[in-house]
Amino acid sequence: MYSQGLIGADGRTGETETFLAAFQARIDAEEKIEPKDAMPEGYRRTLVRQIGQHAHSEIVGMLPEGNWVTRAPSLRRKAALLAKVQDEGGHGLYLYSAAETLGVTRDGMTEELLAGKAKYSSIFNYPTLTWADIGTIGWLVDGAAIMNQIPLCRCSFGPYARAMIRICKEESFHQRQGYEIMLTLCRGTRAQKAMAQDALDRWWWPSLMMFGPHDAESSHTEQSMAWKIKRFSNDELRQKFIDATVPQAEYLGLKVPDPAMRWDEALNGGKGGYRHGPIDWDEFWRVVKGEGVMNRDRIAARKKAWDDGAWVREAALAHAAKRATGKVAAE
Ligand code: 3HC
Repeated sequence: MYSQGLIGADGRTGETETFLAAFQARIDAEEKIEPKDAMPEGYRRTLVRQIGQHAHSEIVGMLPEGNWVTRAPSLRRKAALLAKVQDEGGHGLYLYSAAETLGVTRDGMTEELLAGKAKYSSIFNYPTLTWADIGTIGWLVDGAAIMNQIPLCRCSFGPYARAMIRICKEESFHQRQGYEIMLTLCRGTRAQKAMAQDALDRWWWPSLMMFGPHDAESSHTEQSMAWKIKRFSNDELRQKFIDATVPQAEYLGLKVPDPAMRWDEALNGGKGGYRHGPIDWDEFWRVVKGEGVMNRDRIAARKKAWDDGAWVREAALAHAAKRATGKVAAE
């Protein structure tokens, strides 16, 4: 079991400088930290926070897309969307399992989510108004997720890094199927192309916000990078995403809704990159604080699912208890 830092009455963890220095030396040597290893309480708490919120994002992220399964324009599109939504549920389970190795429970994490004490990604509080939104989510949201999750495959905490390797393989399919939807629409009728442009207009800025506040306003980045939980800062990953995505929009014949966007030769150490316009952080924090268009619907849907699923959890626990006492023959 992880060795949780002892938290004394004075709120201090009782972790000595020697202990902290030895731990940091392991991080600096690129060693993987495993659940049974001694770790600073702050390291454990940061991972519980980030992995828990990541897992919540995967599960809540099933809702905007699930909304279109019955309305997919063809059996092929329906099958791909069903597979994607199912994958997201699996990603949530891997991540809840990774968080549980740190001494928290899925029930506890879910209770925090439903009570508004734990976050999930702001992006999932926007409505999916047209089929083009489903293409745009795959292209931009999963594209941004991949940009953020590839470095997490090298996270210092073993269970998180290993979960990411499996998740990233499936995210690539998610992103490709989304981009293919957009390509089909952009090569379709004028109305279909207009629908694709409308979706890009609505999802571009919220997708940039997925990477978190600017580095100067990020409360966790410095420590998370020292502990090699994060390998890149929020702004570095956002820039990578923008530089990769703007040419894709151009290939589609779509215009990124940023009039201030311009190519800057000086960016990326002289390799050049796209300098973006100002992000509306007031909108970001409004949505994070629960005032987005869909926040209430998302939490209500998760609460209904949790309540409706109580009997399944009780039955599974009762069955497991009976098997443990040998009263139920193993199948
Ligand atoms: N939505 C909601 N809250 C956000 C946020 C966002 N997009 N970006 C940042 N925040 C919150 C942070 O959680 C933190 O609040 P907290 O202290 O209460 O947790 C606060 O804003 C300050 O942000 P920081 O940048 O200091 O926080 P982090 O260092 O945790 O960085 C992060 C934020 C980059 C999102 C990081 O947590 C991370 O990399 N998480 C793992 C990846 C993840 O969760 N992605 C979410 C999308 S998952 C997804 O898209 C699934 C795909 O299959 C569709």
